[in-house]
Amino acid sequence: MVKSVLELQFEEAKTELQSLQRELEYHDDLYYNKAEPEISDWEYDQLRLRLNEIEAKFPELKKLNSSSQKVGAPVSGVLSKITHKKPMLSLENAFSTEDLENFIERVQGFLNTSENLEFCAERKIDGLSASIVYNNGYIVYAATRGDGYVGEDVTENIKTILDVPKRIDYASEIEIRGEVYMPIQSFTELNKQREENGKKLFANPRNAAAGSLRQLDAEVTKSRNLGFFAYYIDGADLNIATQIEVMGFLKKLGFSTAECRLCHSLTDLAKYCQDTLQKRPDLPYEIDGAVFKLNSLKFQERLGFVGRNPRHSIAYKFPAEEAETKVLDIAIGVGRTGKITPVAILEPVNLNGAMVSRATLHNFNEIERKQIAIGDTVKILRSGDVIPKIIAVTQKSGNEIFTMPKTCPSCGAELIQYPGLVDLYCPNHYGCPEQAVRYISYFVSKSCLDIPGLGEKQVEEFFAEGRIKTALDIFKLKEKEIDAPLASKPGWGKVSAQKLYDAIEMRRNVSLERFVVSLGIPGVGEVIAQLLADRFKNIGSLQKAEKADLVELDGLGDLMAEEIYEFFRNDINIRFIDEFKKLVAISYQEKIIDSNSAFYGKIIVFTGTLSRLSRNEAKQIVISKGASVASAISGKTDIVVVGENPGSKLHKATELGVQIMREEEFIQDIQR
Ligand code: IVH
Repeated sequence: MVKSVLELQFEEAKTELQSLQRELEYHDDLYYNKAEPEISDWEYDQLRLRLNEIEAKFPELKKLNSSSQKVGAPVSGVLSKITHKKPMLSLENAFSTEDLENFIERVQGFLNTSENLEFCAERKIDGLSASIVYNNGYIVYAATRGDGYVGEDVTENIKTILDVPKRIDYASEIEIRGEVYMPIQSFTELNKQREENGKKLFANPRNAAAGSLRQLDAEVTKSRNLGFFAYYIDGADLNIATQIEVMGFLKKLGFSTAECRLCHSLTDLAKYCQDTLQKRPDLPYEIDGAVFKLNSLKFQERLGFVGRNPRHSIAYKFPAEEAETKVLDIAIGVGRTGKITPVAILEPVNLNGAMVSRATLHNFNEIERKQIAIGDTVKILRSGDVIPKIIAVTQKSGNEIFTMPKTCPSCGAELIQYPGLVDLYCPNHYGCPEQAVRYISYFVSKSCLDIPGLGEKQVEEFFAEGRIKTALDIFKLKEKEIDAPLASKPGWGKVSAQKLYDAIEMRRNVSLERFVVSLGIPGVGEVIAQLLADRFKNIGSLQKAEKADLVELDGLGDLMAEEIYEFFRNDINIRFIDEFKKLVAISYQEKIIDSNSAFYGKIIVFTGTLSRLSRNEAKQIVISKGASVASAISGKTDIVVVGENPGSKLHKATELGVQIMREEEFIQDIQR
């Protein structure tokens, strides 16, 4: 029988704490490094909670805990702050060989030497810098640069990055700095997924990396596949003389480092810039220049700083990638929600190694602002953003400025502009062929029904042939075999046709949350779908949900609640769901086994700051015990969990006679 923490004596507590630490390390390694967890998140949380409780009862033992990790992210809704041991400064920029020459001369002048100096040349990774402090070989904390003096605590987030070793073979305290970045492929996939889920796209991998690192929920960071390149060490007594050796040592500790090269002259520096620029299009991550650091660390120290820049290093910034080309056409795309997007079709042009033939135009306001006509010569620019944009017309063709169509290019319906929105929409949501194709493609995509073998191209073809008219026809494809066998269609054969049919059969049972995502309700992606599924548990109840039930759900705003409510009142949607149910079983997997839990089936509201675990963790835990979490108190609320400095919710709960649970009691109950 396990003793409660309150009953534990110091020595027992110490032994248990050490064993818990070992256990947690083991599971951290499985989870973060090997991506093969052996225990559920719930079990893991229990271990961590126990560890925290012991530490809370015996604060002296905290020092023992070298991996001393705070549980999850800070509780307040914003990341907490960390003051850097040494300021995280920035670098002076160079834009030409002349600037580099001046830099070398300045350094020589300061050191009072005319000797050839050595420089370590590195790639300038386009991400955000971060500092990670280790002690006893474990991460103690990690912080973003912030304003250079105070950064944000991203300890838990940093630990999810595979490039960051969770243990290093160095016993004393040591600080590692480097760049957190998002690989281009992860960026493209993330934006694709966000588009499918109706979320705002990230403009470039740097923004995406910053947004992904600075998350309260480290699970989100983990799902974003960030990378980390280390380039700096501080606070260690290493007997290392040069930056090149620093890079070697970082590698030995298990960090990833980007390429570096020893340079002896201005010619070497210029050559490094040229070579790097040439390699740039083939790199799996974005770089925006090169960094040159005086190789000798002793010399670096002697040079000191000007303002916030060290004199020993300089950042050479690549020129923005610009090119001129002709606008051959302006294509009008219709998205699955009916949104109209103009895209410039360009005469293919080489932009620093990559051939570019399309540029985004966002919306018609932009065309008008820039006065773009088909046939014009335009300047395009790619700066950090993966999709180039037109910055200006450089030569007019004399053609008329492109004007917005009045009707949908696909179905001819009159386009409309919703109040307050810039974009135009095709309102023919149920009859427009292009919208149908886009929707069906979405419906079969990975985050929805996930039918391998069916991509945009196949959907387009099937639609054009009349094989499918609506998303539901996917499940009737086989019946259509009689008229037009898929196996004899060019590009298909017996085997691939059978494979597709098998894949479709595998989807005759779909989870409620997936089905909700696949409905394509604007703004409803995986997270909200899960929330809805957990709360309503079957499609019928969700369809019947009142606006008030939806607004109550934590994470749903008024507008979204309205959108969802209206969606389920639309006749065509009702028919679609009815028909779908005849073809596919929609199931909801209860994640809870323990229906005796105090939280099972309850509606819970949190207020105030919890000290032992983050709000997010608390939510996850009660959800895993069968509760749903609401943001506001109402007559339906069952329990209000109260932390420090509770807001007016506590007041309201008292008024309504809702059960109030203090944090201590809450922790005890979730451990039962
Ligand atoms: S060294 C005193 N090395 O560029 C600052 N920085 O413009 C020392 N960066 O804030 C930084 N790659 O975020 C250094 N190989 C590299 C880098 C690099 C990217 C970023 C870093 C820094 C900014 C300076």
